[in-house]
Amino acid sequence: MIARILPALAVACALAFGLPAAAQVQMGGPVVGVPTNPVSPTATADELELEKALTRGRIGGRISIPDEQASNLVQPAGRDWRTFHNRTLTWVGGIAVLGMLGIIAMFYATRGRIEIDAGRSGRTIQRFNLLERSAHWMTAGSFVVLALTGLNLTFGRWLILPLIGPEAFATITLWGKYAHNYLSFPFTLGVVLLFLLWVKDNIPNGRDVGWLKAAGGLFGHDHPAAGRFNAGQKMVFWITVIGGTLVAVSGYVLIFPFWATDIAGQQLAHIVHGVISVLMIAAMLGHIYIGSVGMEGAFDAMGSGQVDVNWAREHHSLWVEDEMKKARETIAGTPGARTQGAD
Ligand code: HEM
Repeated sequence: MIARILPALAVACALAFGLPAAAQVQMGGPVVGVPTNPVSPTATADELELEKALTRGRIGGRISIPDEQASNLVQPAGRDWRTFHNRTLTWVGGIAVLGMLGIIAMFYATRGRIEIDAGRSGRTIQRFNLLERSAHWMTAGSFVVLALTGLNLTFGRWLILPLIGPEAFATITLWGKYAHNYLSFPFTLGVVLLFLLWVKDNIPNGRDVGWLKAAGGLFGHDHPAAGRFNAGQKMVFWITVIGGTLVAVSGYVLIFPFWATDIAGQQLAHIVHGVISVLMIAAMLGHIYIGSVGMEGAFDAMGSGQVDVNWAREHHSLWVEDEMKKARETIAGTPGARTQGAD
């Protein structure tokens, strides 16, 4: 509390007594006494002083507490950052999220649910073990809450505040903020685990080109060959790993302000965090659709871990061959099997 009051008092005193008239500005509002063309030949000494301060990137006052940040009255770059937060991010986020929802709706309307063409065989094969599924759901669960609470910070005042009023909005936003800060930790751990567990199967290779040329068979009934992960899933993986790392690092810079950067670094971290997050949310909407209602049999992979063999053959034919080969080798390698073979 005192830490907040002292800088505010310092700013008020500096405004009232310490600064030249032209440097007395309203934070976030129009600059008092700034000419439309501050370097015009008729500019006054105060106006030139203000111009010099703006060029230096900040207007500071004099303070007696040992916190340099508190002496900062105006940081002109802050206005660009505010425009980014209130306008640019809202537009980028709105277009990305609504655009992706529109694409999904159109895809569902034209293609419908992707069925297992050969029907279910009734036999299953293990796709993901418990550790893989736990890491996935820890990442996914925390991501969903992070996404909703983050979107509330960007869009809530327009979409939710008018519906529920300021008091309820303040309460959910405060709790949302706590959830957002603390769930960053399981999300980061999940991204690290997914990277370690799946990186070896997500290195791009020549087969991905064929899969992409056939558009993954999404628009017809082709089933382009794919290993454990197809090219589309590899994209989801790298978006999770690279996007997740950028969002996490920039998020920690924001949670622990001025620990690693100055004010310009804080603003850059916020821009990176906001843009990458909304793009990731849009990408994950596509992933969530295909992994649930969009494709018959896909959810089982992350539910029970067992998928139908026909589903696996249609979407991951090379992986099924590998798994069958490994199983045959294991059986051939067991002493009992060798004896049986010899008999
Ligand atoms: C919340 C709803 C979600 C559902 C229903 C869902 C479903 C699935 C399913 C079924 C798979 C396995 C696909 C297969 O066997 O081929 C999968 C894989 C995966 N999921 Fe999710 N997921 C969700 C959220 C997320 C989120 C939020 C992230 C990342 C932040 C994520 C990251 C991944 C990754 C990296 C893979 C492996 C690559 C892939 O199969 O696309 N998932 N998910």
